Amino acid sequence: MRRRAFLGRSFALGGAGLLAGGCDWTGSPLTDVRVGICGFHGKGLHHIKDLVGKKGARIVALCDVDQRSIDIGLKEFEGEKVKPVVYKDYREFVQDKELDGVIIATPNHSHTLIAMHAIAAGKHVYVEKPVSHNIVEGRKLVEAARKRPNLIVTHGMQLRSDEGKAEAFAWLKEGHLGKVTLSRGLNYKSRESIGKVTGPKKVASYIDYDLWSACREVVPMMREKLHYDWHWQWDYGNGDIGNQGPHQLDVARWAIEQPKLPKRVISVGGRWGYQDDGQTPNNQLALFDYDPVPLLFDNRGLPLKEMNWKLEPVYKDIRIGNVVHCEGGWLAEARAYDKEGKSVKKFSTSGGASHMDNWLQSIREGKAVSANLDVEHGHVSAGLAHLANISYRVGKMMSPGEVKERMGGEAMIQETLADFDGNLKANGIDVASEMAVLGPWLTVNPETERFEGEFAEEANGLLDERYRKGHELPVI
Ligand SMILES: NC(=O)c1ccc[n+]([C@@H]2O[C@H](COP(=O)([O-])OP(=O)(O)OC[C@H]3O[C@@H](n4cnc5c(N)ncnc54)[C@H](O)[C@@H]3O)[C@@H](O)[C@H]2O)c1
Repeated sequence: MRRRAFLGRSFALGGAGLLAGGCDWTGSPLTDVRVGICGFHGKGLHHIKDLVGKKGARIVALCDVDQRSIDIGLKEFEGEKVKPVVYKDYREFVQDKELDGVIIATPNHSHTLIAMHAIAAGKHVYVEKPVSHNIVEGRKLVEAARKRPNLIVTHGMQLRSDEGKAEAFAWLKEGHLGKVTLSRGLNYKSRESIGKVTGPKKVASYIDYDLWSACREVVPMMREKLHYDWHWQWDYGNGDIGNQGPHQLDVARWAIEQPKLPKRVISVGGRWGYQDDGQTPNNQLALFDYDPVPLLFDNRGLPLKEMNWKLEPVYKDIRIGNVVHCEGGWLAEARAYDKEGKSVKKFSTSGGASHMDNWLQSIREGKAVSANLDVEHGHVSAGLAHLANISYRVGKMMSPGEVKERMGGEAMIQETLADFDGNLKANGIDVASEMAVLGPWLTVNPETERFEGEFAEEANGLLDERYRKGHELPVI
């Protein structure tokens, strides 16, 4: 069957579609999906390595603003008969007529921007987590995807496609460990100082910094390294809760079957242990008030003790992962324990290896083969990180006593808070003098995705951002 005819059928079933998009379908559902990768210094390079030579997919275009990333990326095509076309400007890249879909692994601030331009150009999208840099654009991305039902728009939270987790949550739902009491996401990943510059740094001549800045104003670079360390500056990144965090926030939200944002949020944290150019907290707790089971995210960027970067903290033998607490025990990643801590069941785990394959398969079939691909998952779980960061950003320095009081009397929350303080003390940080920043409890309306009540005006001001001329979100 010719691909145009094949998708034409999905158009007939799905409503608005190919008419609005620009994708030139000429192949068959059995031929390769022609993909382009945008941004390939770290994660994007992994995507290239995974897809070069893969059956059913062909990389036909690349886009990066750094000539060194381009040179390294192109090495992966040595020996390949056909080399990808290379772009620097994402706006030209998404228009490439040979492309069926694009994979976006640029810094967070340009995720939604590039994804929406790709949708407007009629391309399928795989956008890395977090799918958005703020809540308003995340919702716009979901709406854009809904308006183009012929396009498969997915997120990069591959753990959603881990069949073992689905099995484990179904087992919990059968009540084997009693009622679920708390869903916990953990990220104990040590993060060292990114250094402190004394003035603006010159961006290397082989990098187009204007295009790197994308929708943000082009401002002098105030950090040592351009790549990766943007994660810790608010204009570009979302801290570790918005970096590693979306994976475990998503799993934690999945475990308690919450499809929307919570009704309240509070966050506490600080950037402790060094003074550098990073702005985001390195240690941060966030509590999401879901009914009936709350969600707690625990992010620790410092090591277990004494600033010894080789040691990393663990909780129930997990450093990065999820614990679902129940009345009769707990599920820690793929293993279930009873109240006494005896292992009672082990689930398989795939790490979500099928996620990318499912996206490609969906493109070939003209319809999503798995509900896990829905970009709404990406939006809501990125949204949790954004909510926590907003609470933190409207917060104030508070004493440990005030933090304890405001976080609430739930025993497990208080234990975590005590352990959080203990981790800081073990690193020589006195939380009584180097105080934490504590946000207020913010009330969220999950329907409007806006704040209400006390502090709403200030908090709503952080839901959206400005887009530089020439790099606005397209209207879809
Ligand atoms: N799903 C996962 O498991 C996973 C793992 C790691 C990273 N990620 C995500 O991947 C993204 C990239 O992370 P990274 O560590 O590779 O970042 P990085 O800063 O190391 O690399 C980003 C690359 O994108 C390029 N780039 C920047 N702006 C661009 C633009 N406007 N157009 C084209 N190219 C542009 C840069 O030149 C660089 O080569 C992040 O958002 C991160 O959250 C996902």
